Amino acid sequence: MTARPILYEKDGGIAWITLNRPDVLNAINMEMRDALWEALQAVRDDPEVRAVIFKGAGDRAFSAGADVSEFGTAPSFAEARRARRERDLWGLMLSLDEVLIAAIHGYALGAGIELPMCCDIRIATPDARMGLPEVSLGYIPSAGGTQTLPRHVSPGLALHMILTGDPIDAEAAYRAGLVQRIVPRQRLYGEAESLARTIIARPAATVALAKRAIIDGLELPLDQALALESRLATRALATAEAQDGLSAAIAAQRAARP
Ligand code: COA
Repeated sequence: MTARPILYEKDGGIAWITLNRPDVLNAINMEMRDALWEALQAVRDDPEVRAVIFKGAGDRAFSAGADVSEFGTAPSFAEARRARRERDLWGLMLSLDEVLIAAIHGYALGAGIELPMCCDIRIATPDARMGLPEVSLGYIPSAGGTQTLPRHVSPGLALHMILTGDPIDAEAAYRAGLVQRIVPRQRLYGEAESLARTIIARPAATVALAKRAIIDGLELPLDQALALESRLATRALATAEAQDGLSAAIAAQRAARP
């Protein structure tokens, strides 16, 4: 029996998705991509799930990227493009209201860092190596990397990483803002979980609205982005949680007055 390409486990509001092909450094083949698509649709449709943590099986890698053994095996270029358009995994990730966290160790190359770049927060171990080697293979990143990388790091660093294909280490990724925290390997999943639990303790509707303001706002000119923020803030204020939160803040302020 072949192992499942991903493992999906739910635990108290958190879905854990493990890329599960450790023998090939969790290379993302079509089967894994389809399984990720199904899992993320389940996340979107399951009101119990508030956060997703992605991780890689085995000691060596989060993921070494697209499965190179499948390169050139699609029936035709047009067919490959059609399949990608119909199952836009990266677009689905960016559209989700749930909080997405990538817990990265070892190699995170090509689609193995492009997937985390479609997450909200990335944490990494000191041994993490992140890079986009496609250009050195005569290709360009196509799991969103040419667009997501310069939204996370400076355009200059994005160009440097993509044109050279050289990976950067966890420390450089942290300094550049690509990862938000570096944690020892034995604490990686505990930290990811505690981060997820901190966020899912906040009101779900407000978390979703804040995510939309940032992710969608980044795609707009500033005046339109500010108008978007204003609309979403009005919606946030109308939620019961905001009414309760503001009432509590006002009461606390009054109580603190001499
Ligand atoms: N696709 C398919 N298989 C992959 C893979 C990938 N992207 N990355 C690694 N593997 C497989 C190797 O073929 C090898 O399989 P084998 O044991 O059956 O020979 C196994 O994973 C271990 O990798 P190996 O290359 O032996 O480990 P290493 O420590 O020598 O090198 C890397 C590690 C990550 C530097 C190297 O595997 C690599 O460069 N992988 C390709 C990365 C890449 O170009 N990804 C982007 C594709 S667009």
